[in-house]
Amino acid sequence: MIRKKLIAGNWKMNKTSADAVSLARELVSAIGSQSDVEVVICPPFTSLEGAAKAIDGSLIKLGAQNMHFEASGAFTGEVSAPMLRALFATHVILGHSERRALFGESDELVNRKVLAALKNQLRPILCVGESLAEREAGSTLKVVQAQTERGLEGVSRELAPTLVIAYEPVWAIGTGKVATTEQAQEVHAFIRGLLTKLFGDPAAQKVRILYGGSMKPANAPELLAQKDIDGGLIGGASLEARSFVELVKAAAAAS
Ligand code: PGA
Repeated sequence: MIRKKLIAGNWKMNKTSADAVSLARELVSAIGSQSDVEVVICPPFTSLEGAAKAIDGSLIKLGAQNMHFEASGAFTGEVSAPMLRALFATHVILGHSERRALFGESDELVNRKVLAALKNQLRPILCVGESLAEREAGSTLKVVQAQTERGLEGVSRELAPTLVIAYEPVWAIGTGKVATTEQAQEVHAFIRGLLTKLFGDPAAQKVRILYGGSMKPANAPELLAQKDIDGGLIGGASLEARSFVELVKAAAAAS
């Protein structure tokens, strides 16, 4: 398998800095030296520095949950890619459905962030996914295609392999409703096809496509066994060491 599985924890707006440090330490002792699976934790901005110190020297990587596309300037409340890099972040989640739905992020805005992340050697984890109404209307693939193509506009073939895409059906996020393996694999294979058209087959084969939406130790093995499911973007189950570690082990077993 040319793609190493990737398990990323999206902690969302949870944990004080002290709580984040203790979770990061627990993860370091349980999975900090395994190299079968790439592991990324994405704490809130306020916990990035503490988490960075806690994972220092381990194989666990650090990601942010959002960023601005400009490097600096009068953008009250925002943080930039160079600021994240200075804290040793390697990844950044962009275009999460909560950012799109609650904070009005458009595909165009997400695209500017993707390009800024790549320019600063941060790996974007670009989130795409349909709402329940869109799935019921039969427009899942159309929605995913538009979000993927618009989000990746202007990305070069050379940098394409560093991308991570997260397919997160909005109706499965935090709801306990997980997509069936067939539903997920269908969309993942479709995204791989889009990437092949955009960047060519060798690059598309290197891109990790994660599934996100109520992924838990109980449903992960079946999802992770699918040909085009290269890992998971984990919300709820990433907030406790035990379940997150189990997910990393499930990914190792599926490798
Ligand atoms: P969930 O969230 O695992 O809690 O469903 C996933 C996400 O929103 O990234």
